[in-house]
Formats: sequence, structure tokens, C-alpha cells
Amino acid sequence: MTQSVLIIGASSHIGQAIARQCASQGAVVSLISRQPASDPNAEFYYQDALQSADSSQHCIEQALAQQPDTIFICNGVLHDATAMPEKTIGQLDSAQLAQRLHSNVIIPAQYLRALLRYLTRTPQVKVLVLSAKVGSITDNRLGGWYSYRMSKAALNMLVKNLSLEVARLNPSACIVTLHPGTTDTPLSEPFQTNLPQGQLQTAAQTAQRLLQVRDVLTPGHSGTLLNWDASVLPF
Ligand SMILES: NC(=O)c1ccc[n+]([C@@H]2O[C@H](COP(=O)([O-])OP(=O)(O)OC[C@H]3O[C@@H](n4cnc5c(N)ncnc54)[C@H](OP(=O)(O)O)[C@@H]3O)[C@@H](O)[C@H]2O)c1
Repeated sequence: MTQSVLIIGASSHIGQAIARQCASQGAVVSLISRQPASDPNAEFYYQDALQSADSSQHCIEQALAQQPDTIFICNGVLHDATAMPEKTIGQLDSAQLAQRLHSNVIIPAQYLRALLRYLTRTPQVKVLVLSAKVGSITDNRLGGWYSYRMSKAALNMLVKNLSLEVARLNPSACIVTLHPGTTDTPLSEPFQTNLPQGQLQTAAQTAQRLLQVRDVLTPGHSGTLLNWDASVLPF
């Protein structure tokens, strides 16, 4: 059966690589992004920059016409032109924290809310939300990056909660958060010096790994935070 993959936050460099690999394997690919269409071969739904709940709902409703069996949510911001991640709580700025919570938690939450009905009714549906290992509270041994870490920890809780709610009506669904591994994209670009050799992956390598994770997912994984090799990470 032809696979159908929906990628939300599709301007993500990892998301674009996933789209390319899925398309090359013959899957139907649908994209939702705030950025203009980049792939003429995919179905494309434009999300306005304000990302209101209504516009998220509208985009999702259009995209669900393609009956996706796999949904990736790639939205995530670590730094932007105005702010780098905090090294100390002394650098914490409440407006910047609110922005990170908005792009890293509230936006995925709006999409997941819009998807609820579909997730409870679609057998074997798989949702992979890109999170980060630095959002693991147990694994945190370095500190720093307050806004990003807090927002990814909250994202992990959002997805865990949703997995429990959906499982009551659709036990065959699988909804996980996923650490993609350090990948050469604008998000990681300022932090790539001094990485251990071999840690930095290209977006194409990461996409291949994440699609391998998708292939081995079962409902038993639902609610977990997974590493790029499908091992379970602690919350
Ligand atoms: N690269 C890494 O090493 C790495 C490591 C760990 C985790 N991750 C996670 O993997 C995911 C993809 O990362 P990437 O490296 O591919 O990043 P990227 O190329 O910088 O892509 C940025 C992503 O964030 C979205 N975005 C940007 N500004 C936003 C805003 N204001 N509100 C909502 N969404 C916004 C974009 O969505 P639009 O298409 O709508 O613009 C796009 O999906 C992120 O969740 C990131 O945290 C990446």
C-alpha cells in the first residue's frame, strides 16, 4: 500500500530531508509550513506566521484528506536573530522564554489538538514529534539552555499525556517524542565546534535514521522519548 506522510514544520532541514526520502520511496508527501513551498512534488498547506489555532486546524483538515499513516512534527527553535540560548539563569528573559514555549510547545500542541479526532480513529497511525535529549530532566548533567530545555521537557509531557488519551480509544496508535541526534542544520550550526568526531550527522543521514525508527515503532513505544536509534531515553 502507498504510504502517506505528513510533515508539519516542513521548512525544517530535517523535515525537508525526510520529505525527500519519503517521496523517493513513492510515498504521498504532504507538508505544512509557515514558509513558501519548497518541494513541487508534495501537497503543500501554508500556515500563516501568526499560527492561530484556527489556521492550524484549517491546515490539518486539508492535509488529512491525504490520509497520512505517519505524521512528523518538526517545529523547534533553539536560537534566533535576537537571542542565543542562556548560559546562566541571569540571562533568562521572560519574553524570550515565552517565545520558545510558543514555538516549541504551544504550536505542536495546537496541531496535536487539531489531529485528535484523526488519531483516535486511524488504525496503526504513527506520530513522531521531534524533541531533544536536552529536554530529559534525568539526563541533564550540564545545565544551561534554560528556555529550550524547559520547552522540550514540556513537549515531552504533552506527548506522553496525549498518548494516554488516544490509547483509550485507539490502542493501535503510536505517538512518541524523538531526539534526532545532532544534525547539521541552522539550529545546531553555532554549536558544532568541539563535537566528538562522528556525532554530527547530515540531514539526509538523520532522515534515514528517523524513518528507520518509524518503521520499528509499535503501540508499545507510545508515550516514550526515543533516541535516533530507537532506544528509550529517560524523561
Ligand atoms: N538539528 C539538531 O541538531 C537538532 C537536535 C535536537 C533536536 N532537534 C529538533 O529537531 C527539530 C527540527 O530541527 P532542525 O534542525 O531541522 O531545525 P530548522 O532547520 O532550524 O527548522 C526549524 C523548524 O522550526 C519551525 N519554526 C521556526 N520558527 C518557528 C516559530 N516561530 N514558531 C513555530 N515554529 C517555528 C519551522 O517550521 P516552519 O516550517 O513552519 O517554518 C521548522 O520546522 C526541532 O524540533 C529541533 O528542536 C534538532
